[in-house]
Amino acid sequence: KRHLISAADLTRDDAVLILDTAEEMARVADRPIKKLPTLRGRTVVNLFFEDSTRTRISFEAAAKRLSADVINFSAKGSSVSKGESLKDTALTLEAMGADAVVIRHHASGAPYRLANSGWIDGAVVNAGDGTHEHPTQALLDAFTMRRRLVGRDAGLGRDLEGRRITVVGDVLHSRVARSNVLLLNTLGAEVTLVAPPTLVPIGVENWPCQVSYSLDEVLPKSNAVMMLRVQRERMNAAFFPTEREYSRRYGLDGDRMARMPEHAIVMHPGPMNRGMEITAEVADSDRCTAVEQVANGVSIRMAVLYLLLGGNEPAVSPAHSRTE
Ligand code: CP
Repeated sequence: KRHLISAADLTRDDAVLILDTAEEMARVADRPIKKLPTLRGRTVVNLFFEDSTRTRISFEAAAKRLSADVINFSAKGSSVSKGESLKDTALTLEAMGADAVVIRHHASGAPYRLANSGWIDGAVVNAGDGTHEHPTQALLDAFTMRRRLVGRDAGLGRDLEGRRITVVGDVLHSRVARSNVLLLNTLGAEVTLVAPPTLVPIGVENWPCQVSYSLDEVLPKSNAVMMLRVQRERMNAAFFPTEREYSRRYGLDGDRMARMPEHAIVMHPGPMNRGMEITAEVADSDRCTAVEQVANGVSIRMAVLYLLLGGNEPAVSPAHSRTE
């Protein structure tokens, strides 16, 4: 496949191949020499029209660990501020020889437009578009769940068949929720969305998941509970209960976490609103995988770049797979 725009683009085999390749990449990251030569001579452009900490840095780290050249472009401080269009920005990047463009944009559909425009020849990776999708976040979340709930060794299980995943909060504005529902369904998991009625998207009945309005009912049956950030910046005040009311009904605190099965994990894509959707007690507990998710994001993004750009060498050559 040439691009990664939506989690729906991935078959079960595609998704498992990315997860397995990321597992190989993670083994490299555990070694003293973390770098592979596989994308030497290739150029990856990080094209960010919207703020990011985790996604931008981890794509940069991933490309550098594969020995690619990296160009970081942030709309703030660029000629986009002077009114330059996506097309002219893309043509400029094409002139610089981008082999892959990793794009985050406030407009849903911008990565699709870039991939199908003919403006650039390189692979396009969606790093989050508006309220639409964030496929590499869903992949790193699935990778984290597979490691924690299934096991990391071949033979223990290659996907998430039958696992019960609960996604909680501001689903309406969440590209993470949509990509997770699509990918987790492909991997055989059962997803339940829990949200206030005003933060459930229209058309959710067509999503491959259940919807509940009661967090307390769903928690005891969950293998993983993914808390979403409340996106006040995308929200009209009319959509939102008071912060106190939201936390009381949909926030995860220590008492609620105690209702989860002992093995179950708490996830958060970050950035977190501590005290709103998640208390500091839960965020800092051993059961919360938020920091682990960030580390896993580098392995997933290495796998995606490697598979899209078709590195010249095996991802991990025998020389690199040897125990250092
Ligand atoms: N999870 C996530 O996409 O974080 P950033 O916005 O910091 O990239």
